[in-house]
Amino acid sequence: MDILTNKTNGILTITFNRPDKKNAITAAMYQIIADTLKDAESDAEVRVILITGTQEIFTAGNDLDDFLQNPPQSVESPVYQFIQALIHTTKPVVAAVAGPAVGIGTTLLLHCDLVYAAENARFSMPFAKLGLCPEFSSSLVLPQIAGYQRAAEKLMLGEAFSAQEACAMGFVNKVLPTAELLAFAQDQADKLVALPASSLRVTKHLMKSKQTAAIEAQIEEESILFGEMLVSKEAKEAFNAFFEKRKPDFTKFT
Ligand code: COA
Repeated sequence: MDILTNKTNGILTITFNRPDKKNAITAAMYQIIADTLKDAESDAEVRVILITGTQEIFTAGNDLDDFLQNPPQSVESPVYQFIQALIHTTKPVVAAVAGPAVGIGTTLLLHCDLVYAAENARFSMPFAKLGLCPEFSSSLVLPQIAGYQRAAEKLMLGEAFSAQEACAMGFVNKVLPTAELLAFAQDQADKLVALPASSLRVTKHLMKSKQTAAIEAQIEEESILFGEMLVSKEAKEAFNAFFEKRKPDFTKFT
C-alpha cells in the first residue's frame, strides 16, 4: 500500500509509504488521500489528522513519470481533489516531516495547522527548475508567511533548505531529533483530541475563512498555468534530464 491510513484514539494518520520511489505521489495516491480526507470530514471519530512519511523521506512530490503520462486536466483530477480536501477540512491537521519534502511535499504544509520537522528534513519547491510554476496557492501563501524575498528565493531558485530555515521562515513550528519526531507530533495531536472539537473548528474557521476565496482563485490561476507549462519544452527537458540522471539544458529556450 503506497498510502497507509490508521484511525486510533481520535487521530487519523495518513502515511506516505512508497519508499522505493521516495514516496513520490501518483494520481492513485492523491485519490486515496482525497477520499480519506473527505470521509474524515463526516466521521466524528476523527478529531485530528496527522500526515507523515518515513524517517528517511516525507515525499519526493509529484511522481514525475505519472504526471507526464496522466497530466491533471480538470477539477476532477485526483491532485485537485486532494488540494481541495486539505484546504477545506474543518479538522486540525498536524504534519510530521522527516527527510526530503519536495514540491507539493512542502507546499501542502502551508495548509496544515501544526508542522513539526525532523533535523534531517529538507524542503524544496523546485517548480521553476522543472519548467513549471508554483501550485497549491504557494505563490500567495508563502510570501505572506515568510515575506516576499524569502519566498522568491525558495520559489525561483528551488534549492533545498533546512528544517531550521523553514522554522525561521514560519511554516514549521518546531525542529526535533529525527527519532523523536513522530512521538512528539502524536503527543501534540493527542492534546488536540482532548480539546473541544467545536472550539478547534471555530478557531480554524476564524483564522482561515477570510482567505479562502483568495486561495481558491490563486489555485485556479496556478493550475491553468501549471497545466500549460507541464507540456512545455522546458518541462520535457527537465523531466527527461531527471530520469536520464543529467543536468537539464534550458539555454536553447527563450
Ligand atoms: N517521481 C518519480 N520517481 C521519483 C521521484 C519523482 N518525483 N523522485 C524519486 N523518484 C525515483 C527515482 O527515479 C529513483 O527510481 P529508480 O530507483 O527506479 O531509479 C528512486 O525514486 C530513488 O530516487 P533517487 O533520486 O535515486 O533518490 P535520492 O535519495 O538520491 O534523492 C530526492 C531523493 C527526493 C532528493 C530525489 O529523488 C529528487 O530530487 N526527486 C525528484 C523530486 C522532484 O523533482 N519532484 C517533483 C516536484 S513537482
